[in-house]
Amino acid sequence: MNKSFFFKHYILPTAFFSFIINMFLLAPSLFMFQMFDRVIGTRSKEALWLLSLLLLVALVVMAIIEVVRSRILVNANNAMDLMLAPYLLKKMVEGATSPEGNPNTYALKDLQTVRTFLTGQGIIQLLDAPWLPIYMILLYFMHPMMLLVLVIGTVLMVSLSIASEFLTKDPLAESNSANRLATRFVDSAMLNAEVVNAMGMQANLTKRWASLNDRVIILQTKASKWSGRISGMTKFVRQIVQSMSMAVGTYIMLGDATFSMGMIMAGGIIFGKALGPLEYVISGWRSILETRAAYARLDAFIKGANQAQPYLLELPPPTGQIAMEHVTFGIRATGKILIRDVSFSLVAGDSLGIVGPSASGKSTLARLLVGAWKPQQGVIRIDGADLANWPSERLGQHIGYLPQDIELFAGSIAENIARLDEPDSEMVIEAARIAGLHEMILQMQNGYDTQIGEGGTVLSGGQRQRIGFARAIYGNPKILILDEPNASLDTAGETALVNAMALLKEAGTTTIFITHNPHFINNVSKLLVMQNGALAAFGPKEWVMAQLNKATQQGQVSA
Ligand SMILES: Nc1ncnc2c1ncn2[C@@H]1O[C@H](COP(=O)(O)OP(=O)(O)OP(=O)(O)O)[C@@H](O)[C@H]1O
Ligand SMILES: [Mg+2]
Repeated sequence: MNKSFFFKHYILPTAFFSFIINMFLLAPSLFMFQMFDRVIGTRSKEALWLLSLLLLVALVVMAIIEVVRSRILVNANNAMDLMLAPYLLKKMVEGATSPEGNPNTYALKDLQTVRTFLTGQGIIQLLDAPWLPIYMILLYFMHPMMLLVLVIGTVLMVSLSIASEFLTKDPLAESNSANRLATRFVDSAMLNAEVVNAMGMQANLTKRWASLNDRVIILQTKASKWSGRISGMTKFVRQIVQSMSMAVGTYIMLGDATFSMGMIMAGGIIFGKALGPLEYVISGWRSILETRAAYARLDAFIKGANQAQPYLLELPPPTGQIAMEHVTFGIRATGKILIRDVSFSLVAGDSLGIVGPSASGKSTLARLLVGAWKPQQGVIRIDGADLANWPSERLGQHIGYLPQDIELFAGSIAENIARLDEPDSEMVIEAARIAGLHEMILQMQNGYDTQIGEGGTVLSGGQRQRIGFARAIYGNPKILILDEPNASLDTAGETALVNAMALLKEAGTTTIFITHNPHFINNVSKLLVMQNGALAAFGPKEWVMAQLNKATQQGQVSA
C-alpha cells in the first residue's frame, strides 16, 4: 500500500477540512455570546440581523465542507479497495501453500475493517478529538471553574470506560471464541447434512449445538449486562456535566459581574462539542483498537508478501522435465513428517505411475509437484529451474492437475474447463472430447453453458471427475499430474481416460498418475512406490514390478 500517497491524498485533506469544520463549530457559541451580550444589551435589531446572517453563512459553508469531507472519505475507501483487494486475494491464495491454517486468510476481512473505520464516523471523531484541549483552553479563559467541571466529567467518563473494558473484556473474548466454535459446528453439520439425515443424527446434532450455543448466550449476557449498565451511567454523567456547566456558569455570574449570560450560553455549547468526540472515543475505543490491530496485520501481510517475492527469471516454456532432489515435507505444528527425503527425475515425455498404500504420501507428493505446498527441504525442479523461481501464473498454463478431491467453481461448465478464463470454444471442446465428455455435455439442457455449483446443476461424481480431467488437459499442458483420476469413473470413462493418456503421450506430455488400478500401471514407462512417506522404489516399470514381486514374496512391501 502506498502509504504516503494515501496520507497525502486522503487523510491530510480530511484532517484539513476537519480543522476548518471545527473552527466553524465555534460559530454558534460565538453567536450566542454576541447575541446575549451585544444584541440584548444594545437592543439593536440591525446587529441581530447581521449576526444571524453571519451564522447562516458559517453554517452553510460548514455543511458544504462536511459533504466534501465525506466524499473524500468515500473516495479513499474505494481507492483502498481498488488498490488492495485484488492484490490481497492473489497473495492470500498464493500464500496458502501449507496444509496448516494460515493467518493470511483474514487479510481481506482486515481490509474491510480498516475501510469501515475510514468511511464511518470513526476517523471523523478521531480527527475531532485533538480539539478537546483547545476547548479546554477556551473554557479556562472563560473561568477556571468551567474547565474544572469539564475535567471532572472527562475523568469520570474515562474511568467508567476503563471499568467497562475491564468487566466485559474476558466474557466478550470467551463468547466470541465460543461463537466461532458453534458456527463452525453448524457449517460442518450443513456440509454433512446427507450423513446426518441418512443416519438419524439430527437429535444428537441439535443437542451438541445447543450446548455450544448456551455457552455463547451465557457469556454474552454477562458482558452485555455490564456494558449496558456502564453505558447508561456514561450517558447520565454526560448529561449531568452538560447541565452542571450551566449551573456553574450561573453561579460564577452571580459572584462575578464580568461573567455574562452570553458566556454561559457559549460555554454550554463548547461543553457539548468537547463531550461529543470524547464520548465517541470512549464508546468506540474497542473498534479503534480493532482497526489498529487490523491495520497492523494488513501492513505486516503486505510487507511479508512483497518480501517473499523473489526475483523471477523470464524462463522459456517448460519442456516437461521434472526432478525432486531430497525433498522433505512435514507439518510444522506437530512435527509430523509426511514426505521424507524423496529424490527422482523424469525426462520430458515420461509417464510415471505412483503407487503405494493409503496415507503413504502420494497425494502430498502431487501437491508438492504442482507447487501447491512448498517443501521444507530439498528442491523440485521443472526443466532444471527451482519450482519456487517459476512465476506461478506462467508455469500454471503448462501444468494440468487433477486433485483427488475435485473442487469445481461456481460458473458454467465451459468456464470450469477453461480454468475460469474467457473460454476458447475450440480448446474447451477439444479438452472435453479427449476427456470423453463432449456428448454428455451436449445432452445437458444448456450444453457447455450449464451452470454448476450453488444454485446450478448438480453433477454426478463421475461427471465432476471428467470435468476436472478436461480442466487439467485444457490448453495441452506439458506436465500432467492426476491423483486417482479414475476413482469415480465407469468403464466408458476409464476407456476415455486410457485413450486420452495415449494421445497425450504421443504429444510428448510428461504425465504422472497416482493410482491403484493396474490398468493404468500397464501404460506407464516408469513406476514409483511410496511407503510411509518415503520412496520405496523408483525406476522403469518392469524393473520396479519385478522388485515388488520379489518383495511381496518376502512379505516386505505391499503396493
Ligand atoms: N492437510 C493435511 N494436514 C495434515 N496432514 C495431512 C494433510 N493431508 C495429508 N496429511 C497426512 O499426510 C499423510 C499422507 O497423506 P496423503 O493424502 O498424501 O496419502 P495418500 O498416499 O494420497 O493416500 P490415499 O491413497 O488414501 O489417497 C497422511 O498421514 C495424512 O494424514
Ligand atoms: Mg491420495
